Amino acid sequence: MHPLIAPSILAADYVNLETEIRRVANADWLHVDVMDNHFVPNLTIGPPVVERVVAVSPIPVDAHLMITDADRWAPGYAEAGAASVTFHAEAAENPRRLARELRRLGARAGLAVKPDTDVEPYLELLGDLDMVLVMTVEPGFGGQEFLDRVLPKVRRVREAASASGLDVWVQVDGGVSAATIERAADAGANVFVAGTAVYGAEDAAAAVEELRALAAGAAH
Ligand code: DX5
Ligand code: ZN
Repeated sequence: MHPLIAPSILAADYVNLETEIRRVANADWLHVDVMDNHFVPNLTIGPPVVERVVAVSPIPVDAHLMITDADRWAPGYAEAGAASVTFHAEAAENPRRLARELRRLGARAGLAVKPDTDVEPYLELLGDLDMVLVMTVEPGFGGQEFLDRVLPKVRRVREAASASGLDVWVQVDGGVSAATIERAADAGANVFVAGTAVYGAEDAAAAVEELRALAAGAAH
């Protein structure tokens, strides 16, 4: 599976977002972290800013919603133009209904699980999902260390998707870098979020290419 790189603007300069977004125009997706200070102890941006990011971004927007009451608030991000909307399993009352609603609004539907959340109960939803995000750090902050202990979950989702013949993407987010991306690709991930590893680099576009090449070389 062709690897997709999604730089996270959490590590960018929020005052100069348009310039920062252009630095990664060679990437596949722009990862936008939405945090509400309830689901995670951090606060970022909401629908009006996401709408402007969508308007200026040369690549499609992948919204990662770290918010409570996803059933109520996630559809607004599809309406804001995010091409992919991922909500957390821990924050959704009715994940199947929500995934279907996101698809109806024209977005790809993603379901995320925190490091300590078992993915098994959600595998029956795969037919209604376009992506499963296996968090490789505790959500809330950039710059944390990649958790190898979640890799079996990445493998499990990839296996279940292949077994059912579904074209479901498996995304990893947190601590993804040149030192860790091959392990994630080898476990079956095909979408790689990277904040620090891309925006912390002098040449962000070159960092995207390096990550893509490493993932392609390792992909199972
Ligand atoms: C963390 C966010 C990530 C974050 C990753 O909760 O979901 O997208 O930006 O940052 P790095 O790549 O620095 O771990
Ligand atoms: Zn994220």
